[in-house]
Amino acid sequence: MEALLEISENELDDFIQLSDKLYGIDFSGYALESLRRRVLRLMQLKSCDSFTAFKYYLANQQLSDEELLNEISVNTTEMFRDFEVFKFLKDEVFSVLETYPRINIWHAGCSTGQEPLSLAILLKEHGLLRRTVQYCTDINSEVLAQAKKGIYELKEMKDYSANYIRSGGAMSLSDYYVANYGKAKMNRELGKNMVFTKHNLINGTSFNQMHMIMCRNVFIYLTTAQQNKVLRLFIDSLVPRGYLILGVKESAVFSTVLNELEIVNGKLKIYRKKR
Ligand SMILES: C[S@@+](CC[C@H](N)C(=O)[O-])C[C@H]1O[C@@H](n2cnc3c(N)ncnc32)[C@H](O)[C@@H]1O
Repeated sequence: MEALLEISENELDDFIQLSDKLYGIDFSGYALESLRRRVLRLMQLKSCDSFTAFKYYLANQQLSDEELLNEISVNTTEMFRDFEVFKFLKDEVFSVLETYPRINIWHAGCSTGQEPLSLAILLKEHGLLRRTVQYCTDINSEVLAQAKKGIYELKEMKDYSANYIRSGGAMSLSDYYVANYGKAKMNRELGKNMVFTKHNLINGTSFNQMHMIMCRNVFIYLTTAQQNKVLRLFIDSLVPRGYLILGVKESAVFSTVLNELEIVNGKLKIYRKKR
């Protein structure tokens, strides 16, 4: 029977230092349990049966920077993920956003782009797309390259379409893409005002004058200290009364910046910067 792979706290520490030194990737802000699972998965994938073997593998730089980042960070996403959030934005937040002549939205940790595209569809249906700029950032340039293309598996569209309808979409999702050889290519118009930039939330600079920031399902991989740092960055990037949306399983309630935020919807993790 095959022995179960395990790594100790010290070995995990070694991994963090090696990735920083050899690949220039700093995983020190990542929540340890999630990091341990991903490292074990990567060891298995590369047929390393001990941490010593894996260290040797890493030291010989048999992985590219991007591959290491891709394997360790989780990029799972979908269109209209947690549709209640999109429905709330459409029903309660768009009427505030439309008071601005130009709307700036930052998608932090946008992965392969399904989230900004979902929002673009709803913004278009409310006549707001043309005056909105969506800044889409991620630490991983491979997912950003996919986001720029806006091409997804056609078979995923069935689930996305059900989410779109539940979000209160006014058309049919198929109006927004062209199907070809098992792929769905999203309409170019949706991505016209999207800017894609590689950006690390842990040591990156703030953005200016954002009316809304969506950063969903990224905090679960960060330690509490790093989450506080990133929340500070978000508050500095928002206009007064700007919106911050975290993942439904995440929270700003225990953060050091809570007094600077108002809770708009506690269940959906929608916050608003105080004046
Ligand atoms: C699970 S995906 C979430 C995608 C999307 N926001 C959603 O909720 O569907 C997490 C994304 O966060 C990115 N990420 C992880 N750590 C990051 C960091 N320090 N700075 C920027 N992006 C990061 C990952 O590369 C990944 O694409």
